[in-house]
Amino acid sequence: MNTPIDYQTAKRVIDSFGILDFGKATIREVVAISTQLEQETGTEFIHMEMGVPGLRAAQVGVEAEIKALQDGVASIYPNINGIPEVKEQAARFIKAFINVDINPEGCVPVTGSMQGTFASFLTACQCTPGKDTILFIDPGFPVQKQQIVVMGYQYDSFDVYEYRGERLREALEAHLSKGNIAALIYSNPNNPAWFCLTDDELKIIGELADKYDVIVIEDLAYFAMDFRKDLGRPFEPPYQATVARYTDNYIMQISGSKAFSYAGQRIGVTAISDKLYHRAYPGLTQRYGGGTFGTVYSHRVLYALSSGTSHSAQYALAAMFKAAADGTFDFVSQIKEYGRRAKRLKEIFTKYGFTIVYDHDLDQPIADGFYFTIGYPGMTGGQLMEELIYYGISAISLSTTGSKQQGLRACTSFIKDHQYDLLEERLKLFKANH
Ligand SMILES: Cc1ncc(COP(=O)(O)O)c(C=O)c1O
Repeated sequence: MNTPIDYQTAKRVIDSFGILDFGKATIREVVAISTQLEQETGTEFIHMEMGVPGLRAAQVGVEAEIKALQDGVASIYPNINGIPEVKEQAARFIKAFINVDINPEGCVPVTGSMQGTFASFLTACQCTPGKDTILFIDPGFPVQKQQIVVMGYQYDSFDVYEYRGERLREALEAHLSKGNIAALIYSNPNNPAWFCLTDDELKIIGELADKYDVIVIEDLAYFAMDFRKDLGRPFEPPYQATVARYTDNYIMQISGSKAFSYAGQRIGVTAISDKLYHRAYPGLTQRYGGGTFGTVYSHRVLYALSSGTSHSAQYALAAMFKAAADGTFDFVSQIKEYGRRAKRLKEIFTKYGFTIVYDHDLDQPIADGFYFTIGYPGMTGGQLMEELIYYGISAISLSTTGSKQQGLRACTSFIKDHQYDLLEERLKLFKANH
């Protein structure tokens, strides 16, 4: 067959990986296959599998970090609770862009949201005997389930595709009423599908979290990236949507990785509500001889995991939060580039017969942003993923994310300017061949 990547070579390389079901291939396998094919054939791939920031790190962060290092912080252990500057600036940033009041005490720096969720799952599952399960509102970020497996706790999940709007209540009731759920998690905007839960949906989550005494872990890895709204003006509406308006039982994970393109320094903030921070739980008292959710989180769990977070990166994050809230650093304008890319890419895919799988937030078309989902009539996600490799396009199957839909997640972050024409050319051929 006439394909952009030589058919026989691609087939040989794919077969050599021995992947029985392509729908289950990991990102690392897809990267390995596409990289090997690029080397062997000399033909470039359009990489849409990795969720790595494709922009330069925010300069204000880099400068603050260099200064902190020159001032000598590298030799000193950082305070386990976080340096005062980052705690205060995190609380102010949250007020400026979410319009939620939170005490700086509850804003604890972590080595990325990855550590934030690990420590949150762990602490939440130790609070109450019998509550040892995390509920995922899927699709989601696969490595978070891996975290639960590593810890030896349990997880439960459902694909929210069929349960948007008021139906979310029904799905949550069914899971939460079992009584074993310690915490629930979702990302908003969603990785991989880029839908955004609406305020009505967040209200339902908040109400049921209170009813069943479940902690909500709100993963804001893609903070302010619902580009349908202008979320970049500090202390002015509209604000980033949050469950924190509807319950006190929440933890927000705010990552420096995507909003500030600061993934390499592994920095973010776990923001624990004032009420949860000060709440004592029988399971924590029994295990640690005392403490509240917040003190156990920092002084026991984070201490045991990494003894705090890189000292210089905390200065970087404090400076980025401050500049954003001061209005001198318009971080949203910079990351809007992902939205522009998504719009163009979605137009090209749909022109050649692809569909957007998760395409609506109730009656509103979803935003253009970091990720989007694609399907092709009559093909499973695994088949489509394998087939696109012959066309020099790599993406990951939705089935690895807890989605029950057939399709792929495409990430916009690595797309280069000349690749729109290339994509168009390749998809034209794809359509002609199918
Ligand atoms: C939904 C979600 N949560 C968390 C993370 C990890 O963030 P961090 O780099 O802060 O650990 C990512 C990164 O891709 C993500 O997509």
